[in-house]
Amino acid sequence: MCGIVGLVSTQPVARDLISGLGQLEYRGYDSAGIALAGPGFVVRKVIGCATDLAAALRLDETAGRAGIAHTRWATHGKPEERNAHPHVYQGVAVVHNGIIENHAMLRERLVESGHVFLSDTDSEVVPHLIAEARARGAAHLDAVQQAVEWLHGAYAIAVLFADKPDHIFVAKYGSPVLIGARSGVVAVASDTIALAGLCLRYTALEDGDLAVLTPDSVRILDSFGKTASRTWELVMDREQAAELDRFEHHTRREIAEQPVALRNTDALLRGKPLPDGIAAAQRLIFVACGSSLYAAATARVWIEKLTGLPCDIEIASEYRYREAPIQAGSVAVLVSQSGETADSLACLPLFRARGVPVVGVVNVTQSTIARASDLVWPTTAGRELGVAATKSFTAQLVALLRLGVAFSQARDCDPAVRAQVVAGLTAAPMICAETEEMEPALAELAHWIAGENEALFIGRAAGAAIAGEAALKLKELSYIRAEAYAAGELKHGPIALIRQGSPVLVFAGTDALVGKTVSNAEEVRARGANVVAFTDADGASAFAGVAETVMALPGRGVGHMFAQVVALQLLAYHAALALGRNVDRPRNLAKSVTVE
Ligand code: M6R
Repeated sequence: MCGIVGLVSTQPVARDLISGLGQLEYRGYDSAGIALAGPGFVVRKVIGCATDLAAALRLDETAGRAGIAHTRWATHGKPEERNAHPHVYQGVAVVHNGIIENHAMLRERLVESGHVFLSDTDSEVVPHLIAEARARGAAHLDAVQQAVEWLHGAYAIAVLFADKPDHIFVAKYGSPVLIGARSGVVAVASDTIALAGLCLRYTALEDGDLAVLTPDSVRILDSFGKTASRTWELVMDREQAAELDRFEHHTRREIAEQPVALRNTDALLRGKPLPDGIAAAQRLIFVACGSSLYAAATARVWIEKLTGLPCDIEIASEYRYREAPIQAGSVAVLVSQSGETADSLACLPLFRARGVPVVGVVNVTQSTIARASDLVWPTTAGRELGVAATKSFTAQLVALLRLGVAFSQARDCDPAVRAQVVAGLTAAPMICAETEEMEPALAELAHWIAGENEALFIGRAAGAAIAGEAALKLKELSYIRAEAYAAGELKHGPIALIRQGSPVLVFAGTDALVGKTVSNAEEVRARGANVVAFTDADGASAFAGVAETVMALPGRGVGHMFAQVVALQLLAYHAALALGRNVDRPRNLAKSVTVE
């Protein structure tokens, strides 16, 4: 993962670099580093984040008018200072986002020829390769180019030379990187969030590009070494600094922001037509990771009802390598909050190669997936700072259901189902707000689960997918072992987990399957489980006498799904609080997963 940012300017850059770096911490936050040049050559690294880095820099070290910085999510090597970027060798400083797959072979070769390595990272080979080329007499740009020719894998690299302090060199393959500019300042960054406030316009580098940046020029060379001219876009202004307001954590604030996020997303997509090439779809292939995958799986149940189209739900990291046959007439839907997730992004060329149109359901509309999609079908959840997806998940549900409604209209499907879904979407913001008011009861449940240190979530149809999201949220926020199963699967193995007092949490609305789900709850109860039912007002009577606790949540049908999601989010949040976890930045995670 990791985030990189670099600035070359007519003025000192340290302050702006660190501010840009702070914006990239959603990509990783275990360690950070900076190299500054002109005058002098300063390198600082810390365990921690951008503010720790700022504190580590002495004032007399901040005069450099060019600099590169990095925030890390460890792939190779523990989060230790020596593994933090920039990696420096013989006056060549490099920050890298991506994975160099052949680093071991390269390191071995370099060590044999006398190079000494200081870190356990894959990235450290890069400054060594550049320095080696320089020692052979290559000019700065040629040395970068010769070095990247050795690399297999994915990289976005920014290079600062101690002996060329008014230049930054950039190379890109596989990992996204942008160049930004305004008068007297040129920047490189992993995404536009870091450029906002620093630059007015940006362009995205393409695979195989090299770029040479000075305070007043940008030169991009394509993979054939030819000067490339690229389209520049406006950098959107940085959103207002996200305030915690009355909340203790961004995650909790973002849970509370859901009514607004859902209303805005629904308003934006209501009535939005589908282009002909997409409306003619015969099959929908949803590709995503993590919560975005569960959002697609939850929405699928209703999209199939709405449209009669077969819908496949594909884990991006599997799909990219599966060589699955893709039928003519398919439309791909990539679902991603960040629009930068490496595995999701890697599926795009598969669809391109088969002429399959791609719809990007993204929250960050200036993202790589958004740029590469044939149709952007955006969520407008606003920026999400908590690592756990909350408001982006429910906004994705809205966007996906609106996509289903649009297909239903284009295909002239049953208007009654459409009306049912639209009514649920209209009610969803109020349902979220009402569910939030049940927080004290959910907090009490969370304390019990935290004490048990395990949970099994079950459901059928959309409830099974919501159970998956519940287990993911509980795991990532509280580190409690949690599993999710389609309720009918329990007896095929997982029921062996049940002991006296096991927490089993059931998601069931009053649909045709509620009786079946109640029976599954009976089965675990008969084996000692302590059952909690998240259901609607009618479901509450069906579960009476079966569940120890019945949480009668607001709404019916589609609207009720949103209540179940808010309930699971508050449950996971309070379990994390009970166990003293770092709610906004859980261990080992990053907001955006830009490596595979
Ligand atoms: O940005 P994306 O939606 O593509 O991210 C996908 C997952 O990495 C993400 O949903 C992750 O699972 C969250 N931490 C879940 O809360």
